[in-house]
Amino acid sequence: MTLTRYIEGRCRTWRILIVPSILDSDFGSLGEVVRELERCKADGVHIDVMDGMFVPNITMGPAVISAVRKGTHIPFEAHLMIENPERYIKQFSEAGSDRIIVHYEATADIKKVIRSIRMCGAEPGIAINPETSFKSVSRYVDSIHTLLVMSVHPGFGGQKFIDRSLRKIAEARDFKSMNGCDFAIAVDGGIDLKTGKDAVSAGAEELCPGSAVFRSGNIPNAMKKFRMLGK
Ligand code: DX5
Ligand code: ZN
Repeated sequence: MTLTRYIEGRCRTWRILIVPSILDSDFGSLGEVVRELERCKADGVHIDVMDGMFVPNITMGPAVISAVRKGTHIPFEAHLMIENPERYIKQFSEAGSDRIIVHYEATADIKKVIRSIRMCGAEPGIAINPETSFKSVSRYVDSIHTLLVMSVHPGFGGQKFIDRSLRKIAEARDFKSMNGCDFAIAVDGGIDLKTGKDAVSAGAEELCPGSAVFRSGNIPNAMKKFRMLGK
């Protein structure tokens, strides 16, 4: 899944990727949830994997991902909120993750993890928590596809967007343009239409709304509204 820029005539419309997080969806019918996102032309599915160690919550593992993988082609973005993710990269890739995002704070050797994600044929991403500076990871962004800026403390959906994340997004955007990098800036946590708009203005290129989509009561409608943010 790549961030696509459309250049039409004089005006350039830069399409913002909408990759909803299914953490707040109906886990009893995950297959249908993924198919619905595919029908709504989501750019991908953001799958939150939690181990109860790195974050105080436990969700799903490779077995669930391979179960929902069948019968859909929409890209899967696995957000691994797990300690020492290097132990499971192969399993998440073989389960059908097109992109694997690991936390900078969860491993002692982020470069090795990025390499192993690439070796498996998936796109590597780094996630940074609210208290982690962009500077801590700037030396690695040339080797990743996506930087995931956490705008909540990871572990649960439905939390409030942390406003100071906007400064970090803008810092990553400025770093990109100054250094000619092409990693995508994604934002995750507390994304609704207002915070999503603010994040896009600060430089976000991918939004991962969770409860704003799945608690909306009308997923296609919510997706349409998020799609408008990128116009
Ligand atoms: C939080 C997860 C996020 C979260 C997004 O740890 O990484 O993906 O589920 O859900 P909302 O949009 O409800 O914050
Ligand atoms: Zn996430």
